[in-house]
Amino acid sequence: MDPKTKIDQLTDLLHQLNHAYYMDNISKVTDFEFDMKMKELESLELEFPHYKRPDSPTSRVGGTITKEFQTVKHKYPMLSLGNTYNEQDLRDFDERVRKVILSGNDLISESKETSSQFSIFDQGVTTHNPQPTTRNRYEYVCEQKFDGVAISLTYENGILTKAVTRGDGVQGDDVTNNVRTIKSIPLKITALNLPDEFEVRGEVFLSRENFKKINKEREDIGEALLANPRNAASGTLKMQDSTIVAKRQLSCFLYSLNGKKLPFNTHSDSLEALTRWGFQVSPTFKICKNIEEVMAYIHLWETKRFELPLDTDGIVLKVNSFIHQDQLGFTAKTPRWAISFKYKSESAITKLKSISYQVGRTGSVTPVANLEPVLLAGTTVKRASLHNANEIERLDIRIGDFVHVEKGGEIIPKITAVEVSKRHESLVKVVYLTHCPECGSELIRNEGEANHYCPNEKGCPPQIKGKFEHFIQRKAMNIDGMGSETIEALVNKGIIKNLADIYDLNHEKLSQLERFGEKSVSNLLNGIESSKNIPFRNVLFALGIRFVGLTTAEKLANHFENIENIAKASVEQLLEAPEVGEKIAQSVVQYFSQEENREIIQRLKASGLQFENEARPEAESNTLEGKSFVVSGVFQNFSREEITEKILSNGGKILSGVSGKLDFLVAGENMGPSKLEKATKLGVKIINEEEFLAMLG
Ligand code: IVH
Repeated sequence: MDPKTKIDQLTDLLHQLNHAYYMDNISKVTDFEFDMKMKELESLELEFPHYKRPDSPTSRVGGTITKEFQTVKHKYPMLSLGNTYNEQDLRDFDERVRKVILSGNDLISESKETSSQFSIFDQGVTTHNPQPTTRNRYEYVCEQKFDGVAISLTYENGILTKAVTRGDGVQGDDVTNNVRTIKSIPLKITALNLPDEFEVRGEVFLSRENFKKINKEREDIGEALLANPRNAASGTLKMQDSTIVAKRQLSCFLYSLNGKKLPFNTHSDSLEALTRWGFQVSPTFKICKNIEEVMAYIHLWETKRFELPLDTDGIVLKVNSFIHQDQLGFTAKTPRWAISFKYKSESAITKLKSISYQVGRTGSVTPVANLEPVLLAGTTVKRASLHNANEIERLDIRIGDFVHVEKGGEIIPKITAVEVSKRHESLVKVVYLTHCPECGSELIRNEGEANHYCPNEKGCPPQIKGKFEHFIQRKAMNIDGMGSETIEALVNKGIIKNLADIYDLNHEKLSQLERFGEKSVSNLLNGIESSKNIPFRNVLFALGIRFVGLTTAEKLANHFENIENIAKASVEQLLEAPEVGEKIAQSVVQYFSQEENREIIQRLKASGLQFENEARPEAESNTLEGKSFVVSGVFQNFSREEITEKILSNGGKILSGVSGKLDFLVAGENMGPSKLEKATKLGVKIINEEEFLAMLG
């Protein structure tokens, strides 16, 4: 079968399987079979990129790099909403709506081309195709005001063709490749009677749960933490590498539909259509017959909103009928048929007594505001995070200042502003800490980083304790019976000074700990013993090398097989491992350049920890040792996976792409011309199936 037909067939089949799985709850194939089909499509698309379809399900996993996002003009401007914090303003809004609708201009039986909306869009198009409705009755739809990033999605013949950010409302950035990785946004809609072209708008967001997970991972590897889910979602949408975007697992709620002559009379009908077509519409929207029902909705969600998976900061009130929306029209910037009501985050004013500085596991320093205790949303607040030196500068906060403290969805309150009118003239600017509050070392701040660091990794107490805490955690050595308190006691008594000391613990040493009975001792010793079976990748992660998270540790372990190979690898060699970039490679080299780290590893090894991958049971020979391969194309006698397996089981290595470091390109039929060209240019040896088999003897 020719590759184009095969790609088309696989694309359609995967769409059908996805539809059956997500919409109808039917698994027509096993996960494994599904993955295999995906892999097959992926490699065909790699060979024949020009046949890849815009709705390809492989886009979900990323793989594209956008060097510069193109600016695109919106077909329909993306306006903003008028907003208020005040219930009386909403009643006034309702009054204005009533007056316009009751005054009943003659739009009701006219088409939209003559409506007020036309003047705003000025495109000669209609957004909807309204039918006559009852003149005097009107109703609202209430929705959540999602705190994410606005997005406009264009569908042509059911296929997502463009995704653009709001930008300045007139034009935004084309982030289509990144948006294609968002699972809740359909790449292809198969519903019947779909309009040829339409635009859907919504809010891209990062769930609170994912946000926490990402920050935990960042903390683990010593990366600066992301400030909040909205910033994180916005930053993620503008990342160059869509593979990383896919990993972040963004989501999207859709809340409006635009297009020419759409067959809906009301906003709620279009939301229901969007749901039927497979879009994720938040089920929290409600039709309200009058302003009292709107108020009830607002009161209900004031607290219930914290149960939602994402941050919201209010509700949006929209007139439901499109005819009524047309009658109401727009001001210069906002529609007259919608308004948002924002919940006041509870806030209080209190005095900043002092700023203290916390040092984390990786030495990163976080300033914390110590406040005059104040009651806020039912709890007494004494402290608030100030994030970093930039935040102190942004707020121009001074010791002795009166500050506004707010509690949003998050547990830790934040300082939103300084009450400058109450500032005493004697107050001076904060001079950021220059030396570590824990060990006195001079702090450093790397270029481009927001946080200051204490470089005294080995002598700074919170860094020492943090290293142990990282080492024993579930994802790392998973040592049962050893918690933060035990670590603290062991470190304070000088019983453990570095990671290797854990494996020298015995009954005698542990008996020095207060309130640590016989049972606790044997639990801990058993936990330490079992940790010796933890696989190499987790051990590598447990060492706490900066920027080496569990995924990177796994890639390094698979690529280099054992710790010796990693320890002696140069930056260039490290860069050959999949998903290892400059920052990680430098950090690994720096870690192993330190004598003390190498010594600790030797001791851990002697204690019986796993420092190499489990032997492949099917290892055949070491004929290909030291040789690297890329396998591409279709072969006569073997599948690509079988050849890959043969290379690995005979001691060879697989590289992620053609580069100057590659020894052999095993080329099958229908191989992509660009790969061949690159290999030829770089002088990489190109061999066919027979030549490969001959190498194995
Ligand atoms: S409708 C004409 N509905 O709020 C504007 N917007 O201030 C139509 N937003 O840029 C927008 N949740 O990013 C609408 N349920 C919702 C919303 C919502 C959040 C955001 C959106 C927009 C901003 C307007």
